[in-house]
Amino acid sequence: MNTLAEFNKMRTEAVDYIKSQVKFEPKIGIILGTGLGSLVDGITMVGTVNYDRIPHFPVSTVESHAGRLLFGHLKGKPVVCMQGRFHYYEGYSFQQIAFPIRVLKALGMQTLIVSNAAGGMNPNFQPGDIMVIKDHINFFPGNPLLGPNDDTLGDRFPDMYEVYNHALIRLAREVALEQKLRLQEGVYIGVTGPCLETSAEYRMFRGFGADAVGMSTVPEVLTAHHQHNKILGFSIITDMGLADNMHPCSLDDVIGAATKAEPKLRTLIAGCVERMEV
Ligand code: HPA
Repeated sequence: MNTLAEFNKMRTEAVDYIKSQVKFEPKIGIILGTGLGSLVDGITMVGTVNYDRIPHFPVSTVESHAGRLLFGHLKGKPVVCMQGRFHYYEGYSFQQIAFPIRVLKALGMQTLIVSNAAGGMNPNFQPGDIMVIKDHINFFPGNPLLGPNDDTLGDRFPDMYEVYNHALIRLAREVALEQKLRLQEGVYIGVTGPCLETSAEYRMFRGFGADAVGMSTVPEVLTAHHQHNKILGFSIITDMGLADNMHPCSLDDVIGAATKAEPKLRTLIAGCVERMEV
């Protein structure tokens, strides 16, 4: 674990490099999950910075992820997209997963929009549905906020009252209604993966009160919440994890379903961004 001084130096070096490449202050950060990469097509691009050029930035190992920051305007709002994210199952530490979120904040981010692919456990869901995340359960064996706390960034003991911003959830509901899009709502449980769940695990997680399960999002959200970002999260339900009705599920199934649902999520996010106050 880095000391606060080491961390601050690393973040400054990353931020200075990015600013030397792109002169732009993003207000909204968007993390694009599995198969959702083309969400960026609606963005008027100002510049990109590849992860592997940014000092101290982790480099993504998953093939379906490009690995760069993309800066530009979405519906006139200044955004930065993380094309490619870092998963705990890839071997990154929670600190490494948190690092880009700290950097985005230092660049100007006030609001974070996260998307992911997730297994549905609520029997009212169907593959292809989009769920706005109302709350989460951290089932990862750790937390990016462990270790010394930087009081200039956030509280030692953040309260978890409104992690997923209520006004943004309402906005997502309104936009979905206007777009005639069925928007599910629920609790996301974040797990390490890389295995999908056993039938017994799906039953347990459902019993915990979770509606969807996935392998990302929670570490980034904890970091963003700590640094007082507003957060809006969406899961694409790519497969159903119903304990008493299990089917085989491959990565192709997950990516295929995410890619198919992506135009809906893209329009929904664009509609939300358009009406966000930044
Ligand atoms: N479980 C965990 N992560 C996932 C799933 C799942 O069923 N589907 C997509 N990501």
